[in-house]
Amino acid sequence: NTQTEAELIGKNEVLPLYKPREKFSHKGTFGHAVIIGGSYGKMGAVTLASKAALVSGAGKVTGYIPKCGYTVLQTSVPEVMVITDKHEEYLISMTIDVEPSVVGIGVGMGTEKETVSAFTTFLETIKVPVVIDADAINCLSKSKKALKALPEFSVLTPHPKELERLIGTWSDDFDKLKKTKAFSKKHNVIVVIKGANTITVFQDKLFINATGNPGLATAGTGDVLTGIITGLISQGYEPLLATLFGVYLHGRAADLIIEDFGYQSLLASDVINGISEAYLDLF
Ligand code: APR
Ligand code: MG
Repeated sequence: NTQTEAELIGKNEVLPLYKPREKFSHKGTFGHAVIIGGSYGKMGAVTLASKAALVSGAGKVTGYIPKCGYTVLQTSVPEVMVITDKHEEYLISMTIDVEPSVVGIGVGMGTEKETVSAFTTFLETIKVPVVIDADAINCLSKSKKALKALPEFSVLTPHPKELERLIGTWSDDFDKLKKTKAFSKKHNVIVVIKGANTITVFQDKLFINATGNPGLATAGTGDVLTGIITGLISQGYEPLLATLFGVYLHGRAADLIIEDFGYQSLLASDVINGISEAYLDLF
């Protein structure tokens, strides 16, 4: 099937998705997002993703990380709760004894053998929506068993190398889209092809994002995107709509921030600070 619908996603398309807060809402209304990830030397990824989930509006956020990250996460984002794995430096179990509304998984996680196997068990048992990024995507590429357990309507956010490991190499951009659509249809999942003009793929549909700039080409901005999409699903946005809205807000936050900071100096944490401006700028 060569039939393709492509839609450009800008402010006019996301505004109708926006859910205003009701006066009598409470933190339970906005869900409990869990971010699973981190390994020795990569705890910043979980810090960025969990803070981004809160700033996007999740009611509560818990980080599930290896033991060595405990003090780092507790002190860098006091609003985030922390559960530690049995292992000191990477994840080996992923048994979360809280009831999440959504799980964002993979940032800074590593792909140790025990991590891949814990991730597979996690996918086989999880009952809520999952946002799969970074090393969690690499685990899917490494393990057929993990790929087989991939839940429908999961959101995958690969950067180009992670996408290549997942779907194989492509000859040109059309071939890349064709292969991504085939993957999305086969597994019934949402795939975000990140880069300048990020494209979200769901089955035969393509959504081209209108926001973002080269300032985003800096470490950790992908982790922030994972946090934003996870935070939106936590609040009750459906996975596909949360993805379109999240990719838009992430790019718009960066567009507003570079007006003051310029491309070169933008940091991933500045993008988190820009999320509130991106929300306010909708109206
Ligand atoms: N224009 C617009 N947006 C861009 C541009 C650009 N030129 N370049 C990058 N971006 C955006 C992408 O669309 C994406 O949202 O910045 C983000 C970069 O995400 P990642 O490539 O995942 O980068 P990062 O956050 O550093 O990843 C952290 O996890 O995925 C692993 O190997 C990766 O070690 C890295 C870590
Ligand atoms: Mg990344």
